Amino acid sequence: MNVDGKKYRTIWLAQDGGSVEIIDQTKFPYAFEIIKLHTMEDAAHAIRVMQVRGAPLIGATAAYGVALAMRADSSDEALHNACSALLQTRPTAVNLHWALDRARKSLIQVAPALRAAAAFTLANEICDEDIGINMAIGMHGMELIAAISETKRKGEPVNILTHCNAGWLATVDWGTATAPVYMSHDGGIPVHVWVDETRPRNQGAFLTAWELGHHGVPHTVIVDNAGGHLMQHGQVDMVITGTDRTTASGDVRNKFGTYLKALAARDNDVPFYVALPSPTIDCALSDGVREIPIEERAGSEVSQMTGRTDRGDIQTINIVAEGSDVGNPAFDVTPARLVTGLITERGVLEPNRQAIAEAFPERVKMS
Ligand code: MRU
Repeated sequence: MNVDGKKYRTIWLAQDGGSVEIIDQTKFPYAFEIIKLHTMEDAAHAIRVMQVRGAPLIGATAAYGVALAMRADSSDEALHNACSALLQTRPTAVNLHWALDRARKSLIQVAPALRAAAAFTLANEICDEDIGINMAIGMHGMELIAAISETKRKGEPVNILTHCNAGWLATVDWGTATAPVYMSHDGGIPVHVWVDETRPRNQGAFLTAWELGHHGVPHTVIVDNAGGHLMQHGQVDMVITGTDRTTASGDVRNKFGTYLKALAARDNDVPFYVALPSPTIDCALSDGVREIPIEERAGSEVSQMTGRTDRGDIQTINIVAEGSDVGNPAFDVTPARLVTGLITERGVLEPNRQAIAEAFPERVKMS
């Protein structure tokens, strides 16, 4: 992604070759700040406090976290400890498990003296692969958008609703749900995005809106409950969201509120697509509602809001009646029956066990 004329990934090996740089996403949309990760603990902290977030970027950061650990101590025990510590950071995105599993299995076969170099190479590879996957998702998703565009009057945009941030900032580059949007926009297909603000952390208003704005994509930020109304009034042509974990049978876990959008989409015959990179498939699970662990986050994310005043000061204020309990489950599950299609790097799949297994036999075999 281009930011002020410079091309960035969301994570990269620093010039010194021994540390890693990330864009601190807790500072958006008010500041674009790059910070350095020197140790595995820095990487774990970045995932935990959401300086990096989004399933694919969590996986990539964990892979670099292992590399940083190997730079300090490349023993078998240190490898094991680094993978265990990083696995504890956030429970939902299966990309974290996938990246750590891949790192552990491949690095244990490498002599300790060569492990740090091998671990950095692997982390770089995971990042390059993520970009390739997202570009392929973008091409397949663009075909869906182009088909809808054909049915519209010339110049009329395809209205796409998205939830949370499954964009560039959630991946290494391009995003998953946003890749089809960026490619369509760049290819001359008029698009307009309805951006759910995505309370409580406002990933839509803070991150997705920032990204789309920087790319010049027309968009409108809406409150989380507006989507159903817009669908009833024919103002949404399709929904594209991301996912943190999708089961072998096509149930989709994603940011809280995705399920309600899928219900509203079904009631209004609006196609509901999920952009799914293959590392986000969890073939060990089949029942998304019961089997995927839910991340319960701090209540303060609900009871407080942070923003910038007109004077330019960043302030946090309380917005819930004093004494009220608050709950903050971060993800929900959209059952496969509400999903129109899964946009993967190998094409658009029906959300069912057979289609997923046929398209990704190696993922099914792995489980
Ligand atoms: O809590 P977050 O910000 O990590 O949640 C992110 C999402 O829910 C994304 O939609 C998901 O990770 C897919 S990112 C390509």
